[in-house]
Formats: sequence, C-alpha cells, structure tokens
Amino acid sequence: MRILFTGGSGKAGRHVVPWLMAQGHEVLNLDLVPLDVPGVDTLIVDLTDPGQVFSAMLSYRNFAELEPGTGVPAFDAVVHFAAVPRILIRPDCETFRVNTLSTYNVMEAAVKFGIRKIVFASSETTYGVCFADGLRQPDYLPVDEDHPTVPEDAYAMSKVCNEVTARSFQARTGYDIYGLRINNVIEPHEYAEAFPAYMADAGLRRRNIFAYIDVRDLGQMVQCCLETDGLGYEVFNVSNDDLSVGLSNPEVRAQFYDGVPVRREMGDAETFYANAKARRMLGFQPRHSWRDVLDGDL
Ligand SMILES: NC(=O)c1ccc[n+]([C@@H]2O[C@H](COP(=O)([O-])OP(=O)(O)OC[C@H]3O[C@@H](n4cnc5c(N)ncnc54)[C@H](O)[C@@H]3O)[C@@H](O)[C@H]2O)c1
Repeated sequence: MRILFTGGSGKAGRHVVPWLMAQGHEVLNLDLVPLDVPGVDTLIVDLTDPGQVFSAMLSYRNFAELEPGTGVPAFDAVVHFAAVPRILIRPDCETFRVNTLSTYNVMEAAVKFGIRKIVFASSETTYGVCFADGLRQPDYLPVDEDHPTVPEDAYAMSKVCNEVTARSFQARTGYDIYGLRINNVIEPHEYAEAFPAYMADAGLRRRNIFAYIDVRDLGQMVQCCLETDGLGYEVFNVSNDDLSVGLSNPEVRAQFYDGVPVRREMGDAETFYANAKARRMLGFQPRHSWRDVLDGDL
C-alpha cells in the first residue's frame, strides 16, 4: 500500500515506519522534523494547518514518483501518529489544541480525498488512570474497550475527542477508521535500561495498568489494521500479553487492586490491559516480551 504516515519521526513512528516498509508498503512521512530512515522521505508539515495537510495529502512521495509522468498517485491509507504524546511537555491547552486540530485536519483531508482506511493513535490514558490526580483505580479488571473513558487531563481529553472525531467521519463516509488505544510504548533497548527498576518496584507501572507494548508488536498491530477491511469505526487496546513487572497477576491484584472487581479468571502473567478484541477481530498476535531479554524471575 502507499501510506501517508504522520509523526513517523517520533519514538513509535521511527520503528513502525521501517516495519511497514519491510512488509512491502511505500511510506511518506509527515512530521515537523525529518526521519533518518533510508527509503522514506519526510515532508515537513505542521498538521495543525489545514492548508498544509490538504496539500500534503496530494503529494509525490519522492522524486522517483515523477518518472512515470502519470501525476500524483493516491494514498491507500493514512496512519496518524503525530501528537504531543503526553502532558507536561507543552501547556495543557496547547496539547489539546495540537492533538485535536491535527487529527481533525488529517481525517477531514483523508476522507475528502477518498482515502478509505485511517489508523490513528489513541491512548491508554483515555481510561483515566494514567494521568489522574492521585490514585484512580480502573472500574474493573481486565480493562477492555468497554471501560468508561472519562479522563481528567488535557492529553487524554484530546485523545477522547479524537475518537469522537473519528467516529463522526466514519459515520459520514462509511470508510474504515480504527483507533489504537496504545499502552506504554517500549523500544527494544528499553528492556535492559528501564525494566530492572520495574522488577524492583512494581508500583512504577501502576499508572500504565502494569502493561506495555513492544514497538515491534505495535508495527504488527498497524499492519493488522491495514490488512483488515470492513470493520467501520473500532477502537482497540494495544498491549503485549504479559505484565511489565516481575509479580504475578494475583500478586499485583493483592498489592494494588484491592476491591477492584475482576470479571473473569486471569492467567498468572496475564496483562490487565485486555488485547482480546485486537486478537479476535484483527488476528493480532504480539510476539515480544521483556522476558526474552531479562530473567523472568528477577
Ligand atoms: N509513547 C507512548 O508510550 C504512547 C502511548 C500511547 C499513545 N501514544 C501515541 O502514539 C503516537 C506516537 O507517540 P510517540 O511516543 O512516538 O510520540 P513522539 O512525540 O515521539 O512522536 C510524535 C511525532 O509527532 C510530531 N508532531 C507533533 N506535532 C506535530 C504537528 N503539529 N505537525 C506534524 N508533526 C507533529 C513530532 O515532531 C514527533 O516526531 C502519539 O499519538 C501518542 O500520543 C504514545
């Protein structure tokens, strides 16, 4: 597929873009800063400016696309990752403005140019636990896509707003627009760097519902979304199968989730951030684990 990818220069995108190219896709990256990956060009675009977004949506991907002399090819899909990726980077109102406007602009332009598949990054933070003031527990475990999304912070508010935007554009067009409620993204080098601290103090992972997503499995998730047509509007939790701490599932429940209803039997290392919907509807099969890198008994 010929894919327009936004935010490809960021933490997730710089892995997911090469991952998609390895599956045979052609990618143009839209970002404020270049991506240093051979074979993919970056168009420097501020996505909060609708004129730039509409123009970029009809762009050649590189000089080679000039050669056939047949004009600008159409994009088959848009993958929208660009955002201010959490609170406390920009003032709250700016985080909300950038994230909601850029998502509106990307989706409006995409559907008006007839691009029938849009995959966009939402977030685990929509469930309200991550950036709560003090302790906020999930309503129930495991947290699935039916869990209420009533966050307290500007970043997660922007992501909930983006989900509403997506649902509305899907309702108008009937196109496929899939939102990814991505858990905490982990790059391969972070297992050795960050996870020993999580083994020593599991509480460090409470705000992430003790979950994580390996960035290579996130690449697979995007690929699953590109391959699966006809679902309309859907949101999916995106996480690995296991917990990001050395404690077992019952141990985490005993230490951190006293009084939180558990809706079904859970496995010993099973994540509290349910990925069953993505498995069932998209064939998502996460392959990585911190346990491949570190001693699981740490
Ligand atoms: N990193 C995580 O753990 C995590 C978890 C859940 C969801 N997400 C979401 O996944 C996506 C990718 O996250 P990330 O960690 O790679 O973030 P990142 O900040 O590393 O990358 C985001 C990219 O978007 C670009 N960008 C920001 N504003 C832009 C604008 N106005 N116009 C064009 N480009 C702009 C930035 O330059 C950057 O390269 C984001 O939507 C984020 O909210 C991330």
